[in-house]
Parts: sequence; C-alpha cells; structure tokens
Amino acid sequence: MILNIRKAEHKDIQNVYMLFVDKTVRLASKDPSSITLEEHEVWFNSRILQDEFFILEKNGEFVGEVRVDKKNNENVVSIELVKKHRNKGYGFEALRKCLQLINKSNVVAYIKSNNIASIKLFQKVGFVELLTGGGGGMKKYIIYMYNYLVVFIGISQS
Ligand SMILES: CC(C)(COP(=O)(O)OP(=O)(O)OC[C@H]1O[C@@H](n2cnc3c(N)ncnc32)[C@H](O)[C@@H]1OP(=O)(O)O)[C@@H](O)C(=O)NCCC(=O)NCCS
Repeated sequence: MILNIRKAEHKDIQNVYMLFVDKTVRLASKDPSSITLEEHEVWFNSRILQDEFFILEKNGEFVGEVRVDKKNNENVVSIELVKKHRNKGYGFEALRKCLQLINKSNVVAYIKSNNIASIKLFQKVGFVELLTGGGGGMKKYIIYMYNYLVVFIGISQS
C-alpha cells in the first residue's frame, strides 16, 4: 500500500476540520474540548506556514494527517486518520515515512493510556515508553531510533 504524503495546503482546511471534530479524535486528544470552525481556521492558517504538517492521501482521497509541533524544546508528533482508513496499516506507513522526512531527534508523542491502537502503532514504529505523566491518563513516549543519542552512565562502587 502506497500513501501519498505531501505538505498541508490551504485547500485541506475543511478535511482536517472534519477529522478533528470526529468524536474519537477529540477523545484521543490532550484537550478533548470541541473546536469551532473559526478557531480551526486561525490555528490551521498559522500551522501550514510551518514545514511539518503532512497530509495523507490514497488514490486522491483524504486519509489523515501527521504533524510535528515544536513545544518546549520537544518535537511532539501526532497522527489522526479518518475512521474508515484505520486499522489497515496506513498509520504505520505514514508515521514511519513522516519521521524519516522530518529527520529530527527528540521526537515524543503523548498518548492516552486507553488508546490501544495508538500505543501499538507508536511501539511498532520504534517508540519506547519514557514515563507516565502529564495528567488525564496521558503517557509519554520517546523515540530512540532517529538521531537519538543514548548515553549510558555507569556508577562504580568502591
Ligand atoms: C491511532 C491511529 C493513528 C492508528 O493508525 P492505524 O492506521 O489504524 O494503525 P495501523 O493499521 O498502522 O496499525 C498499527 C498497529 O495497531 C494495531 N491496531 C490498529 N487499530 C487497532 C485497534 N482499534 N485496536 C487494537 N489494535 C489496533 C494494529 O493491529 C497494528 O499492530 P500489529 O501490527 O501488531 O497488528 C488511528 O487509529 C487513529 O487515527 N485513531 C484516532 C486518532 C488517534 O487516536 N490518534 C493518536 C493520538 S496520540
């Protein structure tokens, strides 16, 4: 299966809005409160100016989006697919390719502990659990496989 992955453009505003108001997407979000179209337009127009906002398509049809937001020195990745395109391997393909495209270290994802599909997806791509925290049952995952430097510090006992 080959997804088309391209940068978000203004023409995607409605598809992304319809995706974001989906109940399961709201519930999976850190802030599950509803979003008005006006709020979405302000947010969307500022976000497409940045590079790391990808639209996923299959045969010209909108499948979902992947974003990497810079927050407090972290690159926070998120992925949302239209319901009918879930559980077909698209999430895995899209997340893996988008991480290659952005090629950044220190990429994290905040996932609710009851979001089994998301936890399985991120683990499959190579994220490992860093810690549980953030409130609201959120779990934080950190990626180790893209430019991530792991340093082991040994403490010897004398
Ligand atoms: C989370 C999400 C992006 C996963 O994408 P997807 O395309 O459905 O996932 P994939 O088909 O690539 O599957 C990845 C793994 O998750 C598993 N999986 C997918 N949906 C599942 C479900 N509903 N329940 C349990 N496991 C599930 C798959 O079996 C696969 O694991 P496996 O290879 O070990 O079998 C998608 O379900 C979605 O958009 N959910 C709503 C928004 C959301 O929760 N976003 C994440 C916020 S952190």
